[in-house]
Amino acid sequence: MSRIAYVNGRYVPHGQGAVHIEDRGFQFADGVYEVWAVMGGRLSDAAGHFERLDRSLAELSIDPPMSRAALTVVLKETVRRNRVREGLVYLQVTRGVAPRDHAFPAPGTPVSVIVTAHAIDRAATEVRAEKGAAVITVPETRWARCDIKTVSLLPNVLAKQQARAAGAVEAWFVDELGLVTEGASSNAWIIDKHGALRTRDTQANILRGITRQTLLAVMAREGLKVEERPFSPEEAKEAREAFITGAGTLVLPIVRINGQPVGDGKVGPVAKRLRRLYIEEARGTAL
Ligand code: PDD
Repeated sequence: MSRIAYVNGRYVPHGQGAVHIEDRGFQFADGVYEVWAVMGGRLSDAAGHFERLDRSLAELSIDPPMSRAALTVVLKETVRRNRVREGLVYLQVTRGVAPRDHAFPAPGTPVSVIVTAHAIDRAATEVRAEKGAAVITVPETRWARCDIKTVSLLPNVLAKQQARAAGAVEAWFVDELGLVTEGASSNAWIIDKHGALRTRDTQANILRGITRQTLLAVMAREGLKVEERPFSPEEAKEAREAFITGAGTLVLPIVRINGQPVGDGKVGPVAKRLRRLYIEEARGTAL
């Protein structure tokens, strides 16, 4: 089946989707993005992702491309045209096209908007979640505004490639204090050796993950106590369990860190249960 992309107001065959050579996204990585998981053809955690998009745009003084209602229509139409039931929808907004000059272009320069969608084989990701996955650690090399979901992702790209080469699904950044910030495209969690659920606080230089946010609400509802407190790779190795969260991975148990087992090296009951609870919640509230 042919794929369709939304590019600046038009639905076009995916292979023909193109942006201008002087798009500021291309030349300066001057833009932001969002990724929604698609579940049953609907957008999961829809409102949370829209809110973060508004915030990312505002932090960079990029004009919103259209109303939230209009954007919802475009996202859902892209999902529909690609017949995605289970997968991801990707939105990118850049500061538009202008002669190359670092400073902002003239006010009123139209922003560029693209949307793509693709299917994910949930059965295959379920198998991976049951086996558990590996992470490596890498030094934190990113800028100080990781709270903004910008397309400027080179350190994340390099970290992810290092993980891939090591047979791991994710790389955890470790800051100058020796503490894990987050993954290259996910948030990091452990259940420490005392049984405490821990993840980095959002005052730190991390992306405020929407999956993280929803999972915190699910945990509160379930009466599970969480400490938004950093942990080191050593604590992660000694932990009972570890997992990552994100629109791409949902809740994915981690069983190895830098080649060594986390806890007994098997997927633990808490991560497994949280994955199920998160998916139930996301499916139940998808838009
Ligand atoms: N990444 N941290 C980083 C650096 C991320 O890039 C992401 C998401 C997350 C998790 O955020 P959320 O739960 O809102 O998906 C944390 C997306 C999926 C990506 O880059 O494809």
